[in-house]
Amino acid sequence: MGRPVSLAPSILSADFARLADAAAAVHAAASGPGPAAGDVMLHVDVMDGHFVPNLTIGPPVVSSLRRSTDLPLDCHLMVEDPDALLADFAKAGANLISVHLEACRHLDRTVAQIRALGMRPGVALNPHTPVELLQPILPDLDFVLVMSVNPGFGGQRFRPRTLDKVRWLDRWRRDHQPALRIEIDGGMTVETIGAAYQAGVDWFVAGSAIFGGGQGPEAVKDSMAALRKAASAS
Ligand code: DX5
Ligand code: ZN
Repeated sequence: MGRPVSLAPSILSADFARLADAAAAVHAAASGPGPAAGDVMLHVDVMDGHFVPNLTIGPPVVSSLRRSTDLPLDCHLMVEDPDALLADFAKAGANLISVHLEACRHLDRTVAQIRALGMRPGVALNPHTPVELLQPILPDLDFVLVMSVNPGFGGQRFRPRTLDKVRWLDRWRRDHQPALRIEIDGGMTVETIGAAYQAGVDWFVAGSAIFGGGQGPEAVKDSMAALRKAASAS
């Protein structure tokens, strides 16, 4: 029996005019026969047009999503100065927050603030950022988000060298903090998810692989089942 596979479907690839339907399709795929709803969360990509060259959604949309689903909301903040937004995300009902190491001047304070607001803190790393930079703060984190593409857009190709960082984190947590979770984001498909699972990833973000084939309940369920199978068959 291998480690559990938790999927975090990214709504970036869903129809923004029908997000409640996308959330319902994900929920149905989680709570049907097979894995319990606890193995799924919704990944919400927040982009500000500055930290990344794209603009998406903010706390008001998270608040609307919160009213339409009880899935955990995993908010990935690709923004400059995330501190200014944390209280709004907490009020909107976010459960997990990841901030980028590259965007935080006082990361220790930011992480403490996320936890004080009642959310689970994580730190995201761009592909070029060395994972060792996180070592001093790892004991304060619930998870690390390893970006396996350059952030900003869905549908990019997976960058395999980023798995070296996953392996480093997996070794570190065995010795120090087994509860630390490792999330990966970018280019996850049935072809790439197995290598990420083998490297030690627990939570798999997938956007185009889940919503790219349409966001109807059957399409979402099939895509999620295929990803789970590909991960655990590896
Ligand atoms: C990219 C985002 C991802 C994106 C992944 O900046 O952080 O969450 O939705 O999309 P796919 O799975 O299509 O690579
Ligand atoms: Zn993301």
